[in-house]
Amino acid sequence: CKGVNGLDKVVLREVRGSTAEVYLYGGQVTSWKNDLGEELLFTSSKAIFKPPKAIRGGIPICFPQFSNHGNLEQHGFARNRIWTIDPNPAPFPTATCDKAFVDLILSPSDEDTKAWPHSYEFRLRVTLGPGGDLMLTSRIRNTNTDGKAFSFTFAYHTYFSVSDISEVRIEGLETLDYLDNLQEKERFTEQGDAITFESEVDKVYVGTPNKIAILDHEKKRTFVLRKDGLPDAVVWNPWDKKAKAIVDLGDEDYKHMLCVEAAAVEKSLTLKPGEEWKGRLELSAVPSTYYSGQ
Ligand code: BG6
Repeated sequence: CKGVNGLDKVVLREVRGSTAEVYLYGGQVTSWKNDLGEELLFTSSKAIFKPPKAIRGGIPICFPQFSNHGNLEQHGFARNRIWTIDPNPAPFPTATCDKAFVDLILSPSDEDTKAWPHSYEFRLRVTLGPGGDLMLTSRIRNTNTDGKAFSFTFAYHTYFSVSDISEVRIEGLETLDYLDNLQEKERFTEQGDAITFESEVDKVYVGTPNKIAILDHEKKRTFVLRKDGLPDAVVWNPWDKKAKAIVDLGDEDYKHMLCVEAAAVEKSLTLKPGEEWKGRLELSAVPSTYYSGQ
């Protein structure tokens, strides 16, 4: 159906009532609601749903470059291209009656090939599972016919909706090494217990566990992020000063968002012709009383 500014979007509905919305623009999930109709992702009220500006919020796909780690535009071009729906998606290995999913495809345009001279096929499957879990699976295949390998970096740039950033903590990243984007990507080691927020943060945690938890004390909600094929995790909150400088973000929005991004940044991924990479993100949102840390 049609979304903001007439852009095409797909709405997924799971039997118990949870929903997800995916825009073909950017192949971007912009909404994920639980069975109570509560929005779990942050999308800015100032988001500009108009090419070439990427939609501020949801889950932008950063490919083939994360941030400014290369010569391409910031975060690569996948987030501001129109993806297509795969009319013949591969079936699920198990029964599908309790899952809703859509398969999207991104293929290079002539313009993209000028900036990044490679041929590839990028398939993104977005699935809403039983209980409302949201799964994103990316498969990227090198279809170069000139025998050349290519390398890329990647992130699921997830904007979680939080009640108050000062009341949020992340578990699973303590004691890890990180590259601090606010200090010329210098490497540090995280000290102390869980990660909390009281100022701008822009860090790439390297070689993280595959499970990370985001605890929202005020909402009494815990997000559990599971990832596969993505060794790193980016944590970003622009805080007040930078939020004011971002045109498509409200001045106070930083209080209600937190980006925790399953990513491959420190070491780029390389594919030879014919090879395929798979990167998976699985999100669930549970009442804090149900979260035991296991
Ligand atoms: C984060 C980066 O992933 O995205 C930050 O680590 C960046 O450095 C942020 O500022 C937002 O990027 P953009 O291009 O969407 O404004």
